[in-house]
Amino acid sequence: MARTFLKVFNFTQLCSAIFFNTNTMALKQKSPKESFVTMTEMVLPNDTNPLHNLMGGRMMHLIDIAGAISAQRHSQRIVVTASVDNISFHHPIKLGSVITLEARVTRAFNSSMEVYVEVYAEDLSIDSKILTNKAFLTFVAIDQAGNPIHVPGLVPETEDEKKLYESALRRRQLRLILAGRMKPDEATELKSLFEDLK
Ligand SMILES: CC(C)(COP(=O)(O)OP(=O)(O)OC[C@H]1O[C@@H](n2cnc3c(N)ncnc32)[C@H](O)[C@@H]1OP(=O)(O)O)[C@@H](O)C(=O)NCCC(=O)NCCS
Repeated sequence: MARTFLKVFNFTQLCSAIFFNTNTMALKQKSPKESFVTMTEMVLPNDTNPLHNLMGGRMMHLIDIAGAISAQRHSQRIVVTASVDNISFHHPIKLGSVITLEARVTRAFNSSMEVYVEVYAEDLSIDSKILTNKAFLTFVAIDQAGNPIHVPGLVPETEDEKKLYESALRRRQLRLILAGRMKPDEATELKSLFEDLK
């Protein structure tokens, strides 16, 4: 009985290993520019609070959409938002302003992708453009049954892309700890940050 179980278990493991490898091997790696998204919107009355500034929730909605399109471009799959890291609001954005969101995948893991979104606000009447928000989001590619599915790897090209790629592993570990999905002890990248202080 034990031997049969062992055989079945090994066979299952072998099948999943073969599936994993062929699935991963078949996926061509991509560059961040292939998933770059730019989205421009005008702040309309329905988007604003009583002070006539863009509402935070509306901004988060737009960030989520730009990020999802970027992750979908990278993976060519349906994606769901798994998490959104801290979003700070540094400047109010006035009614009538033009906002531009720029999104790109910074790193792909197994089924998840980290996407970085920047938001710029432009007041066309005084010709000013400022960076108002930055956010990191994680999207997971899923199949028709809603199960996570492998995504292509990402190969950074520019210096900025390489920095974002390197630091993505630390951000991933931090967010997985905060989500209760990783034990702090397992966060090797985060621990290495403090090794010099020992
Ligand atoms: C996101 C979701 C698909 C993960 O499913 P799961 O069964 O927990 O799958 P897994 O544990 O295998 O995790 C899959 C991936 O998600 C990542 N993930 C899961 N929760 C996460 C979180 N809170 N933050 C960041 N990444 C997360 C895992 O690290 C893993 O990444 P990897 O495959 O690259 O290693 C599932 O939780 C879900 O469907 N959530 C609801 C999503 C949703 O409705 N979003 C809003 C509307 S789009």
